[in-house]
Amino acid sequence: MAPIARARDLVKVYGAGRAARRVLDGADVDVSGGELVAIVGRSGSGKSTLLHLLGGLDRAESGTIEVAGVRLDRQRESGLTALRRRHIGFVFQSFHLLPELTGLQNVLLPARLAGDGTRAAARAHELIGSLGLAEVADRLPDTLSGGEQQRLAIARAVVNEPVLVLADEPTGNLDAEAAATVLGLLRELARGNRAVVLVTHDREASALADRVLELRDGRLAPA
Ligand SMILES: Nc1ncnc2c1ncn2[C@@H]1O[C@H](COP(=O)(O)OP(=O)(O)OP(=O)(O)O)[C@@H](O)[C@H]1O
Ligand SMILES: [Mg+2]
Repeated sequence: MAPIARARDLVKVYGAGRAARRVLDGADVDVSGGELVAIVGRSGSGKSTLLHLLGGLDRAESGTIEVAGVRLDRQRESGLTALRRRHIGFVFQSFHLLPELTGLQNVLLPARLAGDGTRAAARAHELIGSLGLAEVADRLPDTLSGGEQQRLAIARAVVNEPVLVLADEPTGNLDAEAAATVLGLLRELARGNRAVVLVTHDREASALADRVLELRDGRLAPA
């Protein structure tokens, strides 16, 4: 299968001088089309940091990252923004829904930003239906449960049909049933020319993955 994401020798340092900490220290990742890859590791090991780099939300000190054939480390901000809008879907550890927009408007936002309004409305409604959100999609996020907000965040991340979906603990705030719905959707998304990278503490989520990688001492290795 075609490589969707490939990172080599990533180094990420937070802080400076004696307080500097190499959170990533030579991390390599390969993700192919059709794959669901789970990333595990203790709290503070750098999982969210790695996802932010793969999603072009932050930059590494050194190393290379390629997503959908584009070298992220060689892009300016404008190039990264365009790539994120078109090809990457991000589900944050804490949903990050915009509070002044309804659920449906949140889901449609990426399609608007990418200038893809036509097909997106149909896709948004389909996603909202399949995630059991039809009844709540017209409400504002702060009137919704954590699980409803998380499912909306997932619908928003995938509405543009990105080739790479990055999900940071997407089941952390969900009950067993909602978690199963979300994992089922992520599993289904990882098909053909699309891949999912899932950060998780959840054993059931890891069990669903094609591969589980552990982040330890700044590097990734099979768990
Ligand atoms: N912006 C930042 N400035 C300084 N240090 C940071 C920053 N972001 C993260 N860190 C530190 O880097 C380390 C890795 O953080 P990260 O959020 O990637 O961990 P994580 O594996 O996602 O943890 P968790 O499982 O708790 O979400 C932590 O020690 C954290 O305190
Ligand atoms: Mg994290």
